[in-house]
Amino acid sequence: MKIQVITLFPEMFEGVLGNSMLWKASDRGIAEYSFINLREFGLGPRRQVDDTPYGGGDGMLLKPEPLVAAIEQAKQNDPDALVLLPTPRGEVYKQSTAKALAADGRGLIIVCPRYEGYDERVTKWVDRQYCIGNYVLTGGELPAMIVIDSVVRLLPGVLGGENSIDIESFQDDDENIEFPQYTRPEDFQGMKVPEVLLNGHHAEIASWRATQSKKS
Ligand code: ADE
Repeated sequence: MKIQVITLFPEMFEGVLGNSMLWKASDRGIAEYSFINLREFGLGPRRQVDDTPYGGGDGMLLKPEPLVAAIEQAKQNDPDALVLLPTPRGEVYKQSTAKALAADGRGLIIVCPRYEGYDERVTKWVDRQYCIGNYVLTGGELPAMIVIDSVVRLLPGVLGGENSIDIESFQDDDENIEFPQYTRPEDFQGMKVPEVLLNGHHAEIASWRATQSKKS
């Protein structure tokens, strides 16, 4: 899956994409990450990308021309790709969204807004707008990383344990939370591993896990 990120701060992604499973996914050729620096599409000698809002108000907005030029370049690289825009105004991003994007298999172009927002007219070039939670961040980079992480880990060949995806939390969005798990030692500072997990009865273990999985 080709994943192109349009951002003013590509260096923010280095640690997240350069380690662990996201790095492995690109090393194995399952995901391919690339960056388009919005500044390169800035206007005039100062490569301006932002401007004051019509109607007044605090802060600066990303101008439409550089954003649309960057999206069009990304589209040239991957004409079928879906254009995603992280924004508090978007639909709530859930596990089912990540699953659908991973199953769809089309490339992703993720536009990361900065400053106080973007000119609304760019949404004409956007396929999906997502909000990752009811809080406001300083830009779209962290939401973009969350989308990338949650989608790439679902691509075939990325995770080791094949059924680990089936047992984990949020299979049906917020209905099922993964059961608690334990490893050695059996007694940690007086806190014991639940007896049922030690007795080797698979049916009992499965039933205990099913009960624990229910959202309290
Ligand atoms: N940009 C700023 N806050 C955001 C949020 N909660 N979700 C998506 N994009 C955002």
